[in-house]
Formats: sequence, C-alpha cells, structure tokens
Amino acid sequence: MKGKQSLDSLDVLYIELTTKCNLNCIHCGNEEKNAQELDLDLVEKLLHEFKEADGKKLVLTGGEPLMHPNIERILQMSSQQPYNTKLSTNATLLNQPRFGFVLDQDIGFRVSLDGTEEVHNEIRRDKNAYVNLIEAMKQMSKRRRQIVIRTTVMKKNKDSIVNMLFELDCISQQGLSIYSINIWPIRDIGCAQQEQILSAQEYKGFLETLNKGTRGLNPNFRIIVGPTFGMEREFKGGPIQSNQIYRCDLLNTSVHISASGEIYPCSFVHYSLGNVRKTSIRQIFRSKKAKEFRRLFLSEDNHDCAGCEDYDSCRAGCIAERYKELLVNPGQRVKDVYCFREPNLELKCTRT
Ligand SMILES: C[S@@+](CC[C@H](N)C(=O)[O-])C[C@H]1O[C@@H](n2cnc3c(N)ncnc32)[C@H](O)[C@@H]1O
Ligand code: SF4
Ligand code: SF4
Repeated sequence: MKGKQSLDSLDVLYIELTTKCNLNCIHCGNEEKNAQELDLDLVEKLLHEFKEADGKKLVLTGGEPLMHPNIERILQMSSQQPYNTKLSTNATLLNQPRFGFVLDQDIGFRVSLDGTEEVHNEIRRDKNAYVNLIEAMKQMSKRRRQIVIRTTVMKKNKDSIVNMLFELDCISQQGLSIYSINIWPIRDIGCAQQEQILSAQEYKGFLETLNKGTRGLNPNFRIIVGPTFGMEREFKGGPIQSNQIYRCDLLNTSVHISASGEIYPCSFVHYSLGNVRKTSIRQIFRSKKAKEFRRLFLSEDNHDCAGCEDYDSCRAGCIAERYKELLVNPGQRVKDVYCFREPNLELKCTRT
C-alpha cells in the first residue's frame, strides 16, 4: 500500500503526553511556561496512526507522563498495540496505591537515575526521589518489566556516576533486573541551569574517568554512553558497550510529538514540522519541510568534521543544540558542542 511505504522508516514515536511534572529538576529541558496536554482522543488517533505505520516502539514521555489525567486509559490502549510501549518516568509516584495500575500493564520502563542517593535527590530536588525510584524498580523487576535507566551527566553528578554504577550493581544482585544504563550529557535547552552545563573538556574528563572507573564493574552490566567522539576505541574490555555507541538518527527513524501537538525532529530540537491536530504524522514525516530539515541536519556537507577518522561512526555527534545555525545560515558547518577532538575544538567549541 502506497501510504504505508511512505512511513516505512518511522520506527520510534515519542509522545509527550503532558508538560506537567511533580518534580522540578535542576537540569530540566522542559520549556513550556503554560501547562500543555494532549487530549485522550488525539492520543488514541496517534496510537492508531503509528500502528498503521507498522511502528516498532512507542515512548510515552513528558513532563511526567503519570500526571496526565487519562494515563490509565492511555497505557491500557498502548499496551494492546502490536508495537512495544515504554514509559519514560521519574518513577517517584509509582509506589503510591493510586498508580498501582501502571505496573500491571505489559510495558517497559525508562527511568531516570542521576547519581548516588544524595546527588540524585539534589538534582531531582526531592529528598525521597532515590528510595522511591529503587523501590519502584524492584517492583518492576518482580513483574519482569524491562528497565532502562537514563542518566544525564552534568556538573553536579559527573564525579559520582562511577559510584552510582557500583551501587546499582550491588542492588542488582539483590533482585533488580536492569536491561541497560544509558548515559548522556546535559543539553543546554529549556530551563536547564546554566551552571550545570559541561565544557567539552569536562565531558572528555568524564568519559576518561568512566572508562577507568568501571573496569572492575560486572561486565554483564550494559552501559551505553553517547556521544563518545572516537573514545569508544578505549572502552574495549570494560563494561561499556562499544558496539552500541550513540548515533543520531533523528528524522530517519523517529519523531517527537510535543504536548501541544507539534511534531519535532527530536525532544531537543523544537523546530515544528507541523501539528498533529491539523494533519497526520504520515503527512508530516514525509513532508517537503521534513525532507529539507533531514537533508540539512544529516548531510555531511553541513558537518564541521573534515578529516576526522571517526566520522563514519560519529557523524558530528548530536547537533541538536546548533540546529538553528543550520536553518539561519545553510552554508554553516556544525558539530556537537561536546566534541573535544582537535583541531576544530578552538574554532567551534563555545564551551571551553
Ligand atoms: C524529559 S524527561 C521525561 C520523563 C521524566 N519526567 C523523567 O525525568 O524521567 C526524559 C529524560 O530527559 C532527561 N533530561 C531532562 N532535561 C534534560 C537536559 N537539559 N539535557 C539532557 N537530558 C535531559 C531527564 O533527566 C530524563 O532522563
Ligand atoms: S527532568 Fe523529568 S522529572 Fe525532572 S522536572 Fe523535568 S520532566 Fe520533571
Ligand atoms: S570531529 Fe566530528 S565526527 Fe569527529 S569526533 Fe568530533 S563530532 Fe565526531
């Protein structure tokens, strides 16, 4: 069918159900001043469209998706779809009896853990965030739900992540089953506190520490770091999975729908390709605007990485923070602000 072919590469759909949140984290990239929410009818339409597109993975996110008034119905509907559903949550509400229905659904979880207990609680500005998260993960493990941990590296936690991993390894041996730990640097978006943003050299230092510090860790612990700018060569022999190093595939295989219905290339790039209240994901994903953005964003000609031996695996890292420069001046060449590789560091990195 012609319509299906036009969406055959949309594998992953992110839906931001609401911008509301029960927390107020220091690094939060949320930028909506007025709370926004997708209506239940619209969510139902999107779930259906994604099924028609033979989608593979749906990620329900926020804000905090559990703050959506119809979350129970949404999880029931999505867990009955042929694709996998993941709930991206801070997990701090899951132990409350009113959210007991969440763990009963046949879904996976992406939860945030940003450091050892003290550091995580400071980042999440909630003194019980860590204990609630660990308890929620134990309950998920009992029900054999898949758990992916998402850790955001920033100034506050860059020196505590190795300890966090050892702690997590210990707790895992007491019945916590974690599929992977995905570690990403903070992005300068939304309400993220400026003093938490890393320099390229700090990010490099973090990767080196992580590489050395995790050598004694359980090798079955799957740690995925991204982007790594070629440092993955040094990770071999440790628990960091060098074959799964981050590679930006935005708009080739995924899109992000915001709580106001805008379709964005990803959660970090708030460039609207259209609104799902007015048109379908299918039309937007293959629209002229989307194709042009994809060309600009992914084209080697627009990446400032000439001669880099790691280009094939890195492809300029994540250039989300610099997408506006590409739009304003299409002749511009950009790369990830965290790239620490010479000789371009001094020319392009604004964070040294
Ligand atoms: C937007 S949150 C939504 C789900 C839920 N509220 C949570 O915190 O897990 C999804 C992930 O994005 C991360 N995140 C938030 N702000 C970020 C930023 N400025 N840069 C990078 N990641 C960020 C969060 O830590 C979380 O792991
Ligand atoms: S990072 Fe997640 S939990 Fe924290 S304030 Fe933002 S949306 Fe809420
Ligand atoms: S120069 Fe470009 S391709 Fe090379 S590591 Fe840096 S961002 Fe990646």
